[in-house]
Amino acid sequence: MKKIAVLTSGGDAPGMNAAFRAVVRKSIYEGIEVYGVYQGFQGLINDNIKKLELGDVGDIIQRGGTKLYSARCPEFIEPQVRQKGIENLKKRGIDSLVVIGGDGSYRGAQRLNEEGINTIGVPGTIDNDINGTDYTIGFDTALNTIIDAVDRIRDTATSHERTFIIEVMGRDAGDLALWAGVAGGAETILIPEAPSDMKVVAERIETGMNRGKKHSIIIVAEGVMSAAECGEELRKYINVDTRESVLGHMQRGGKPTGNDRVLASRLGAYAVELLINGTSGHAVGIENNSLSKTSFDQVFEENHKIDEGLFRLSKELSI
Ligand code: F6P
Repeated sequence: MKKIAVLTSGGDAPGMNAAFRAVVRKSIYEGIEVYGVYQGFQGLINDNIKKLELGDVGDIIQRGGTKLYSARCPEFIEPQVRQKGIENLKKRGIDSLVVIGGDGSYRGAQRLNEEGINTIGVPGTIDNDINGTDYTIGFDTALNTIIDAVDRIRDTATSHERTFIIEVMGRDAGDLALWAGVAGGAETILIPEAPSDMKVVAERIETGMNRGKKHSIIIVAEGVMSAAECGEELRKYINVDTRESVLGHMQRGGKPTGNDRVLASRLGAYAVELLINGTSGHAVGIENNSLSKTSFDQVFEENHKIDEGLFRLSKELSI
């Protein structure tokens, strides 16, 4: 009989609780003992591990954040540090681990898998930047949080005929900026995956102004530059009064959308199913609305790409 442990790691994402719940309930449904590792890989090293029952995951499917807590744990890269974590699992007879997190967390999971713990990754990050899945858990909720903010800012931008620069999360990933920009009708979207020419941005604003359009929304991913820097850059080319909004960590909080809850439930349960069937060293995902699995090696083969077609469309629709 296998024993499965589950942890959440890296930046939290709405829907992690739903995924955690699915892992626990599916394991118990299958007659498998399941353990929670609290505080991510840090908790694994510190032996912060507890056996879970059905009730431990009650009343959490609707909650943001993660009941398992999360942490970033750079020292997990050290083999002797990981060994401590492995021993903490082994002394309880735990041979399998579900890691809910982003690409950094997957790296830890991949190493553990190579060192003898059967590991499956579940994509939990608002960034939507993981290969092997069309959507990550938390992306839809964060996207809708941003859209809500953009709509509100648009009201005041229109009233005051101003240019607003809205900075959203995404150090290396532009999906949140791109999707929020399209859904929020932004005039300009700046993402890390594409070069940003502020002269062109200024020209577009000028063209709009000459047509009588007095307000403008620019969405910039934090990995490109800060909203303040973006304003400064813009004023090198055009005399425009800007206001900046940094949405920050509010993007990571809040109750998960229905889409994220269903996605998390499907992926969490599928992770357990794979472990039962003897698969490990893979990440689960959703591709063309079907459950899929991709080896960690393949996940890391290349950088995640944005949807070029959507990026082109964003430009066509914001002329
Ligand atoms: O990876 C998720 C994410 O929210 C990124 O979009 C963001 O750049 C980063 O985490 C922020 O991390 P922290 O909360 O550790 O500052």
